[in-house]
Amino acid sequence: MPDLFEIIGTTRSMRRLKADPVPDDLVRQILEAGTAAANGGNYQTWRFLVVKDPEIKKAVQVWYKKAFDEVVGPRYATSAPPPGVTAEKYQRQHSAVAYLTEHFHEAPVWIVACLKDGANPGRGAGASIYPAVQNMLLAIRALGLGSTLTTRHLLHAKEADAALGLPDGVHSYAILPIGYPMGKFGPVGRGKLSECVYLDRWEQPYPAVAEG
Ligand SMILES: Cc1cc2nc3c(=O)[nH]c(=O)nc-3n(C[C@H](O)[C@H](O)[C@H](O)COP(=O)(O)O)c2cc1C
Repeated sequence: MPDLFEIIGTTRSMRRLKADPVPDDLVRQILEAGTAAANGGNYQTWRFLVVKDPEIKKAVQVWYKKAFDEVVGPRYATSAPPPGVTAEKYQRQHSAVAYLTEHFHEAPVWIVACLKDGANPGRGAGASIYPAVQNMLLAIRALGLGSTLTTRHLLHAKEADAALGLPDGVHSYAILPIGYPMGKFGPVGRGKLSECVYLDRWEQPYPAVAEG
């Protein structure tokens, strides 16, 4: 088992997944890691829908793809690569994103991270679910499985939640399509720390990260 910092540094999106089933005991381990995360007041208003049913996944994929065709695809085609990402790498990411769009529903298992409506609306709403999502992504990586944090279905949130059969007062925040990865794990690519970290005052450099 690699150490925690190696896991963190190599937990990148794995969008090409094999069809081989993921054993339920691994799914359970992932869910245990998710529910070990902090959440506001420890109220645990989270719910996790494990989806294997191909019809349900397909019904959601239709909205996921619609959002790609209308918004995400055109944006990739016209925007510059983000910090720390070469044009070639950005192009590879675009192809991988397009691939996942077409094959979203074929991932053998999804975990849909949901929250019941609670006392934390507005900017803080996702704060009680995304720590769990990140814990699950790290656990998935540690188990040699692949996934991607996806939220694009939220562009058609109402329709996607209906396709998932969520009751009133419960909303999805992320879908993790999980499977054995076709490709290899590698380091994540980000900008330099010195470009996003300040000391005391906005844009004042923090010398401890000058080299990073
Ligand atoms: C809030 C959020 C939403 C995301 N939604 C999607 C998505 O819907 N589809 C997708 O393919 N990737 C999605 N991603 C993955 C990012 O595109 C990806 O993490 C980023 O490009 C960095 O690449 P890496 O994970 O390979 O390092 C999302 C990531 C985050 C944090």
